[in-house]
Amino acid sequence: MAFLDKHKAIETHATLLLVLSLLVVTIGGLVQIVPLFYLENTIEKVEGVRPYTPLELAGRDIYIREGCYVCHSQMIRPMRDEVERYGHYSLAAESMYDHPFQWGSKRTGPDLARVGGRYSDAWHVDHLTNPQSVVPESVMPKYEFLLGNELDGKRIADVMSTHALVGVPYTEAMIAEAKADFAAQADPNADSAGLQERYGSAAFGVKDVTVSNFDGQPQLTEMDALVAYLQVLGTMVDFSTYTPDPSR
Ligand code: HEC
Repeated sequence: MAFLDKHKAIETHATLLLVLSLLVVTIGGLVQIVPLFYLENTIEKVEGVRPYTPLELAGRDIYIREGCYVCHSQMIRPMRDEVERYGHYSLAAESMYDHPFQWGSKRTGPDLARVGGRYSDAWHVDHLTNPQSVVPESVMPKYEFLLGNELDGKRIADVMSTHALVGVPYTEAMIAEAKADFAAQADPNADSAGLQERYGSAAFGVKDVTVSNFDGQPQLTEMDALVAYLQVLGTMVDFSTYTPDPSR
């Protein structure tokens, strides 16, 4: 076999092998990197993706503080088993306002990128309070104490200003009304018109913000914030009308 004989020449000359390997790696690298210089943006614009509301943002901070990412990823890969289990694969746009993103690298528990709307608020409260009461074999820790930690939204405007610094489009009105919006989302009896005007379908096209007494208690707690955050995960884009842009 003449072809294999020629290959033998490469394999038996260390320098030639090294030079040709470098050549192959260089071509492969260029093919991957060069197109990126010609794209203005690698994140396609998707309708419905909006910055988190103040309450969801506070919940996200609790998610990070408690290390939920140590056991949970938030990134559905475009492979059949994942798409069948979790839903539409994650789009880059869906985490473009996440600083830092929560894609994760470990799945001791399931992926949470589309957990929003899958369970009721009460299920989440029961599960977070005592995961084994819902899933007996679960190794997830109990987060009962979140029910007793009250939140007053004192710092939320500052947190939002910080996110605005790194490019999240929080407007001055959103930051000025942060504390009011924070409380309004967890109180179905409150006037949430302002909240919807800033974050709902009037502003971002697809859906209104979910207003609910997430933890079922009269006071506003860390549990409210965390459940509000879990319930919005993966629900911003309407996949019944979404079509990928073929030019990307
Ligand atoms: C030690 C690992 C571990 C940590 C830390 C952890 N979880 Fe879990 N989680 C699991 C496991 C395992 C399951 C699957 C069994 C179950 O439902 O309890 C799970 C399930 C879940 C589910 C249900 C997902 C579904 O699709 O059924 C949610 C929601 C969830 N976790 C949220 C959280 C949140 C929020 C935190 C942080 C406050 C957290 N988890 C921390 C291991 C963990």
